[in-house]
Amino acid sequence: MSATRTTEAQLSELRAKYVPRGITSAHPVAVDRAKGAELWDVSGKRYIDFAGGIGVMNVGHAHPRVMKAVHEQLDRATHTSFQVVHYESYLRLAERLCEVTPIDGPKKAIFFSTGAEAIENAVKIARAATGRQAVISFRGGFHGRTLLALTLTGSVQPYKQDFGPYAAEVYQTPFPYVYRGWNTEAALADLDNLLESEVGPKRVAAIVIEPVLGEGGFVPAPLDFMRRLRELCDRHGILFIADEIQTGFGRTGKFFAIEHSGVQPDLMTVAKSLAAGFPLSAVVGKADVMDAPGPGGLGGTYGGNPVACAAGLAVMEIMRDEKLPERAARIGSVVEERMQSWARDHEIIGDVRAVGAMAGMELVRDRKTKEPADKETANMLATAREKGLIILRCGVHHNVIRTLMPLTISDEHLEEGLDILGASLNP
Ligand SMILES: Cc1ncc(COP(=O)(O)O)c(C=O)c1O
Repeated sequence: MSATRTTEAQLSELRAKYVPRGITSAHPVAVDRAKGAELWDVSGKRYIDFAGGIGVMNVGHAHPRVMKAVHEQLDRATHTSFQVVHYESYLRLAERLCEVTPIDGPKKAIFFSTGAEAIENAVKIARAATGRQAVISFRGGFHGRTLLALTLTGSVQPYKQDFGPYAAEVYQTPFPYVYRGWNTEAALADLDNLLESEVGPKRVAAIVIEPVLGEGGFVPAPLDFMRRLRELCDRHGILFIADEIQTGFGRTGKFFAIEHSGVQPDLMTVAKSLAAGFPLSAVVGKADVMDAPGPGGLGGTYGGNPVACAAGLAVMEIMRDEKLPERAARIGSVVEERMQSWARDHEIIGDVRAVGAMAGMELVRDRKTKEPADKETANMLATAREKGLIILRCGVHHNVIRTLMPLTISDEHLEEGLDILGASLNP
């Protein structure tokens, strides 16, 4: 790079010329550096970060313990492939992950690079373990952009548009989205219907669920729904896969969101905040299920990269030493209180939902019809950005403002970000 700094305008020109329009950025900002819960763009403008790289930076940007672990690993080996020779950081991280996963009995873990890859492999493992083919997922769910993960994803725009045909033997059922009329009973009745009319339960290998919908709008599944889903799985020998890719690593006030329900999954997928920005994902689950695929059946050149595993081990220590799940619960109560108080004055806020620091508000044009206020949501995001806050939206209707700030955020930065968010609300 030359001594003169590249400007945002120059970078946008490069992007328009060389990067396809299919990948978008939520904000037209070129980031220069990030620390804790703050970002600075190439012009030097500072932002509070409530996006955390889409829920990846629960321990904050450039946490000193992560940086130290990564630097040390960089000097020793950056890649050998676990499929060629194994190494300690992978094995220790597998051990730590198994220790924190809420499943009784022996567990095993395998690492990949992305969330989608973890999902794909969880399905492969479930099929091998059950000898069955079908998989059920939920409308509004998001499980990634590779073909099988995209098939499981239950949202058309913009993810599924134009990319079919999709993988066979995937069935979808409504998520218990209470605000939009699907309570536990209704969602279970539809699932029963599916099992009666489309796919017999003895053909179903697994049901995949996010305990709280992430991309789908920060919608928590009622705890009784999770329990009854577990019972249904037990009745029919179906494996329960919890996708904790966005909900994991303290975000909801517990290490994993499923812990709120007391339900134990058979398999769990994790990624995002597992390694503080280094590409790392995992499938963790009951040892006998995990051992179903034969030798060589699972893997990937980069899966469990040693630098990413070193970062993951540091994340595990930070989570414990800085008590980040407890901190998330505290952040969540502050955020929820603010959102509830805004909802009293602003008709546009139709619903406030928070499980720990996984908090969102759904914007609607009319509280009765619940018509999604998608454009208004986009405007609010842009206003917040101009005022110095980076924050994201989600939801099948793109009308939910969500918080994914680092859990290490200081009280001062949290208040500053919330002040900006409040000031960005239109009547
Ligand atoms: C719940 C959930 N599952 C899977 C994925 C896919 O992860 P990745 O983008 O790393 O493939 C995401 C990404 O947002 C997610 O939120």
